[in-house]
Amino acid sequence: MIKINMYLMLCGIIGLVVSFGCSDDDGENRNKTALVAPTLNNATDISANSFTVTWEAVDGANGYLIDVATDQRFGQMVEPYNSWRQNAISLKVENLDPSTDYYVRVRAMMGMEVSGNSNVISLTTLEEVDTEPEEPLKSAATTFSVGVALSADRISSGSHAKLYEREFNQVTAEWEMKMNITYPRPGEFDFSKADKIVDYAIANDMGIHGHALIWHNAVPSWVESFSGTNEEFEAMIKDYITTVVTRYKGKVKSWDVVNEAFEDNSGELRNSVFRRKMGDDYIAKCHQWVRDADPEVKIFYNDYSMTFDKKKQQSTFNMADDFKSRGVPLDGLGFQMHISYNWPNTNDIEAAVQKVIDRGLLLHFSELDVRVNPDNGISSLTPQRAIEQQKKVEEVVRIYNAIPQANKFALTVWGLKDDESWILYFWDNPDWPLLFNADFSPKEAHTGFLQGLKD
Ligand code: XIL
Repeated sequence: MIKINMYLMLCGIIGLVVSFGCSDDDGENRNKTALVAPTLNNATDISANSFTVTWEAVDGANGYLIDVATDQRFGQMVEPYNSWRQNAISLKVENLDPSTDYYVRVRAMMGMEVSGNSNVISLTTLEEVDTEPEEPLKSAATTFSVGVALSADRISSGSHAKLYEREFNQVTAEWEMKMNITYPRPGEFDFSKADKIVDYAIANDMGIHGHALIWHNAVPSWVESFSGTNEEFEAMIKDYITTVVTRYKGKVKSWDVVNEAFEDNSGELRNSVFRRKMGDDYIAKCHQWVRDADPEVKIFYNDYSMTFDKKKQQSTFNMADDFKSRGVPLDGLGFQMHISYNWPNTNDIEAAVQKVIDRGLLLHFSELDVRVNPDNGISSLTPQRAIEQQKKVEEVVRIYNAIPQANKFALTVWGLKDDESWILYFWDNPDWPLLFNADFSPKEAHTGFLQGLKD
């Protein structure tokens, strides 16, 4: 290397004294000038397929020629970086192979004059990010469906669709089937977005779980401020439920009919507009209308904190027992499972699950996400938290997988990748709650899901 540099320096000096063609180390003859060779800095932003090089500006230069090769002697040039012309003093070198050694040098240009070569830098591109997980979730889970909450807009993104189709065999609309979307104005339904999801799922052989007909957080404003009588309100809700369930009869095989009806910690029935206008028994009425519209559809009651909020849990099971004794239709319970890496504890989850089994109901883990930053103490996903999250996902899947087949329904993840999770704006702090990274690569949590099936 020193020898080569001395040789180049000599050529440069000779070029200064006499205008003399001097062979440089790529074997070409060039006119050497007074133009100083640039100095290359170390490469930055090295990824599996690219890196950036910068160099010191050369006085008088109006351009630079960059060479990239896979060998030190620049015999194996990497196209198109063979005397690549660049006016700026940096270049992002792209479309490279992962885990490969690259060598770079640069010359300065001034009109037709070209300097000698700069120092040579070398670097190795990173290993390829593994976007192909060991095994897709849906093929590993042979005894229950693996669902994902998706939204109509994301279906048209190729990268999303590829993962939805590879990993999942059931879908839930993240918001498109809620009443504020499907029934925006009196007498005027809008199923455009819901239809898009339903058509997509059917075309890709995925089951569709309907979510959610009645939810106090997705009430259209005209319903919230309904001006008619209570009888008119009830007739309107009956018509709404009948219309939606009938539209998707045979396609949407299960519905969360009422979502989150009970208050936190007290287990009291929420005083929603539905309760105020239709009375305490409004949930039973809604279930019956769903059953009347579709005798085959599975009817679920869905709520959060079901594994540890004992009052809410008690109210839910009391309702289930009451419905059973009165013959009100109810096929299953949805535990949302918006949880954290360190909570709730295993015993609480297992005990709550057992209560569903004891009642012979279907169980849906309906909205799984696992926060790793509930205390807002980290600003990036640390390797340790990623592993702790993996363990929690493994535990949840192990518990679900161990329930009797008669109680199994589906385990649904609430979203695809971390940067799109509702958790980010709900809690308003950084988090990484899902199974895929922002770049679509599977996380440790994905591996945890697979492990939970094997435990
Ligand atoms: C959330 C969705 O993720 C958001 O996109 C939407 O704007 C609001 O609702 N419990 C539920 C889900 O039952 O419907 C909620 O989903 C999350 C909490």
